[in-house]
Parts: sequence; C-alpha cells; structure tokens
Amino acid sequence: MPLDASTRLYGVFGNPVRHSLSPLIHNEAFRRAGLNAAYLAFEIEPHSLPLAFEAARALGLGGFNLTLPFKEEAAGLVDEIPEDVDRALGAVNTVVQRDGQLYGYNTDVPGLLTALAEELSFDPRAKKVVVAGAGGAARSAAFALARAGARRIWIHNRTRERAEGLAEYLGGYFPDTEIETLDGPAGLDGETPDLIVNATSCGLNPTDGLPFDAGLVAVSRAAYDLVYAPRPTPLLAEADRLGLPCAGGLGMLAAQAAAAFELWTGRGEGVRQQMLETLKQCRS
Ligand code: ATR
Repeated sequence: MPLDASTRLYGVFGNPVRHSLSPLIHNEAFRRAGLNAAYLAFEIEPHSLPLAFEAARALGLGGFNLTLPFKEEAAGLVDEIPEDVDRALGAVNTVVQRDGQLYGYNTDVPGLLTALAEELSFDPRAKKVVVAGAGGAARSAAFALARAGARRIWIHNRTRERAEGLAEYLGGYFPDTEIETLDGPAGLDGETPDLIVNATSCGLNPTDGLPFDAGLVAVSRAAYDLVYAPRPTPLLAEADRLGLPCAGGLGMLAAQAAAAFELWTGRGEGVRQQMLETLKQCRS
C-alpha cells in the first residue's frame, strides 16, 4: 500500500537502533494485513526521550516500541500503565496512543513465555530455572518466569551485587517462588535446573564466550538464549553439543513484536508465526 496523507506512523525509539529488525517485521505485517501504516527506527539521544514522547504526541503516532536503553525511563513518561504486571516490572517496551493518551505495556514478558512454550514446550509452572544476568532483560525474564509459577529461580550474574539486588526485588513480588543468587554449579546443591536462560548481553559479539561456568549448562535440562545472533551463541553451541533442547531469541523477538502489533491493530491471528518467518528469511 503506498504511503499517503492517511498513513499511520509507528516506530521504535532506541540508541543504538540501526541494527533493529523491528521495522522489517512490522512493515511486512502491516503490508500483509493491508493496513495503511509505516514503522520507522528513531535513534534518540540519551537525554531526549521526554522530547521524543512529546513529539509522538504532537505528531499523533499510533504507537511505538522502546528498546535499549529506554525501557525503564519510558515507564515514567507514559500517562498510564494499564496492567498490574507491567507497573510492577517498571519497564515499558510498547506504547499505544489513544485519544492523545499514551498507554505503556511490556510485551517482553508474554513474549518470552510464548517463545518458551512454542519452541521448547516449556511451562514454567513448578519449575526450577537459572537466569543469567541482572539488567533489564534479566529482570523481565525472571519476572515472567516467577509470574508464570516457577518454583525456584537462581539468579547468576558476573557482578554479584546486581544479582542480589534483582533477587531482592523479585522476592518482594513473588513470595511463592524461592529466589536465590548463584555463583556456580556448586551452589545448586545437587539440584537439576529445568532450564537455564541467558539474559546477559553476552553472545551478541562473535568473540564472546559463555557468561557462566559451562557446568551450569551440563546440569540443566534445557537452554534458552535471549540473544539473537546470526550464528549459534556460545550457550546454544554448548547446549547443542550436550544434546539439550535449546532455542535462541528470535522466537521471543517475534512473539513480543506480535503482541505489540496486536495492541496497536487488534490483529493477532497468525502474526507471530508470520513475523518469525520474516525474521528467518532475512537471516538466510
Ligand atoms: P540489559 O538491560 O539488556 O539487560 P544491561 O543492564 O547492560 O542490559 O545488562 C547486561 C547484563 O549482561 C548484565 O547482567 C551484565 O553483567 P554485569 O552486571 O556484571 O555487568 C551482563 N554481561 C555483559 N557482558 C558480560 C560478559 N562478558 N560476561 C558476563 N556477563 C556479562
């Protein structure tokens, strides 16, 4: 559909953002849905997010996504965060504009749960999971797993104090989930994690190694890497070598994008699968 005076504009605010695959998948989804809409990437200066929000209001954007490093700051700039879970998480990755009001959501949480279910047939209920990392990605992942009923979550992070901070934060919301920090395989006390999740940024760079002791992978039943990279990440390579079920972050990228698309357009049927196909095609 050609762009014209009625085209509705969407986008992603981030920095850096030029590597983002979101414009590709959303524009293709708009095209397939026959919607007169376009999606662009906006590289926002670190201190200019409030201005970008005002611009989005003034220009009447239909909605937009937030990526690094803006998800937490965005939570303080929207008019309302309708869902309890998103308010508690304090991070917004999707904004919907309705009648001049900006509503914030986090689709990373359902995105991870959908990806785990679809790609690993994994339901977190009553499961034991190691989450590596303590930044925003790890917070969303651990939050999603705890909310979905995980029995125990071990937080492992290079900088121990950050792991302790995340464990404390989660403990305040999920009294039924045992939440501990973990330094290495010995800290598991012989328990077998049902899943190990890499929510560090390690693996994005071709020279990165595993962000934790390989022994943690060897004792786990399955692995999920939030990182999506053109080649297998160190975690996926190790899990493959051990014959463990494993999957990388492309599925989560598609699932969180499809959830945002549905919030904007009301269309959800088949979108996730179609976005995943678009992503795989652009990779091959
Ligand atoms: P995000 O919001 O995407 O999670 P972040 O807040 O910068 O980004 O967090 C990055 C995470 O990756 C952190 O947990 C970081 O560990 P530190 O807290 O010790 O910095 C982790 N990380 C990054 N590079 C790493 C590496 N080479 N080895 C291990 N962990 C790494």
